[in-house]
Amino acid sequence: MHLLLLSAFISSFLKINEGSASDWCYQSQDPCGSRCKGPENWKDSVNGHVCAGKSQSPINIVTKRTLFDDLLTPLKFEGYQNAFNSRMVNNGHSVKVDVATSATISGGNLSSVYKAVQFHLHWGKDGGPGSEHTVDGEQYPMELHIVHMKQHYASLGDALKDPTGVAVLGFFYEESPSANKNYEPFIKALSDVKVTGTNTTIHIQSLSSLLPSPKNLTSYFRYKGSLTTPGCAESVVWTVFEHPILLSADQLKAFSEVKFKDGKPMVDTFRLVTLSLCAPDQLKAFSARAHARCTAARERRGPGQRRAPGRLRLGSPRTVVAQLDEEEREGGGEGRGEGGAAIS
Ligand SMILES: *[C@@H]1O[C@H](CO)[C@@H](O)[C@H](O)[C@H]1NC(C)=O
Ligand SMILES: *[C@@H]1O[C@H](CO)[C@@H](O)[C@H](O)[C@H]1NC(C)=O
Ligand SMILES: *[C@@H]1O[C@H](CO)[C@@H](O)[C@H](O)[C@H]1NC(C)=O
Repeated sequence: MHLLLLSAFISSFLKINEGSASDWCYQSQDPCGSRCKGPENWKDSVNGHVCAGKSQSPINIVTKRTLFDDLLTPLKFEGYQNAFNSRMVNNGHSVKVDVATSATISGGNLSSVYKAVQFHLHWGKDGGPGSEHTVDGEQYPMELHIVHMKQHYASLGDALKDPTGVAVLGFFYEESPSANKNYEPFIKALSDVKVTGTNTTIHIQSLSSLLPSPKNLTSYFRYKGSLTTPGCAESVVWTVFEHPILLSADQLKAFSEVKFKDGKPMVDTFRLVTLSLCAPDQLKAFSARAHARCTAARERRGPGQRRAPGRLRLGSPRTVVAQLDEEEREGGGEGRGEGGAAIS
C-alpha cells in the first residue's frame, strides 16, 4: 500500500516536471502574468539547465569579426527540388512543417550527410523585428529554421545527444515591395492553423522554392551552437545564410494572425541573444566567444566597400546587442579580421 502510494506520488511528481517542459513561453507571452517559464527561466525546465550553457543560440553575428574560410564551400542540396504533401501544425510556439520527403545537405565542411526533418519560423509583430540571429546588432523581420539530423539517426532525440548531431539552416526574411508567389500556399495555410494544436495539409512545391535562389546560397555564417528553444541542446551546427528571402509586408504580417495557446497573437517568437541574461562583465566574454565561434563563407569585399545599404532593419529592440558592439569597440578590436577596418 505504502509502495503504491509512493509510486503514485513519484509518477505525479514526474508528470508535473514533464508538464513544465511544455510550459515554456516567449517573453511576449507575459511569463509573470501567465506563469509560464519565460526565457530567463528556461533553465528551470526539464533538461533546460543546458539553456544556461556556454554555446547557446542565437548569437549576434559581428561581420567584421567573422573570418573567411575556404573550407566553407557551397552546400550540396539533394532532394530539395522534391514536391511533397505534409501537415502544417501550430504547436503553440511556432508553425512547423515536417519534411515528408528525402532531402539532405552535405559539403560545406559538414562532417556528415544530414537529412531534413522539419522546418519552422520565428517572427516579430506585424512584420516588425523578429529574427533570432542578428547581424551587427540588427534584427530581420523573420527567420526560417530547417532542422536536419545526421542521416543514420532515427529520431531528433537521438541526434541531440551527439554534439554535432543536428544541422540547422537559418534564413532571414526581408520585406520586399512585391509578394513572393512561391509563398502563397504557405501563407494561405496559416489561416487554417490559427488555433494552437490545429493542423492542416499543405502541399510544398519544393524546399528550394521557399529559399533564395541557388546563387544566393553561397554566402553563409557557420558556428557551433544550440537549439533556440528548451531544452536548448548544444548539438547544433549552425549555417546562417547571408542573403534573405523576400516577402511582402502583407505576407510578413500574416504570421501575426496565428495564436498562442491562450488565444493571444503569436508574435515576437524569438529568443534574445543569450547575452541579455548576462551580467555586464560577461558581455566581453560573450563577444570574444561569438567571434571565435563564427566563421563565414562570403564573397570577399575589398577595403572601402560597405555592406549593401538598406538591407537591415534599424530600430530593433535589441539594445543589449548594441551594447555588445560598444564593448567590442572598447575592447580595441577595430581593424582586426579580414577587411574589418572598412566596415564601421
Ligand atoms: C571544419 O570541420 C572540422 C571538423 O569537424 C572542424 O574542426 C573545423 O572547425 C571546421 N571548420 C570550419 C571553418 O567550420
Ligand atoms: C492533425 O489533427 C488531427 C485532428 O485533430 C489529429 O488527429 C492529427 O494527429 C494531427 N496531425 C498532426 C501531424 O498534428
Ligand atoms: C541575390 O542577392 C542579391 C544581393 O543581396 C540581391 O540583389 C538579389 O535580388 C538576390 N536574388 C535573389 C533571387 O534573391
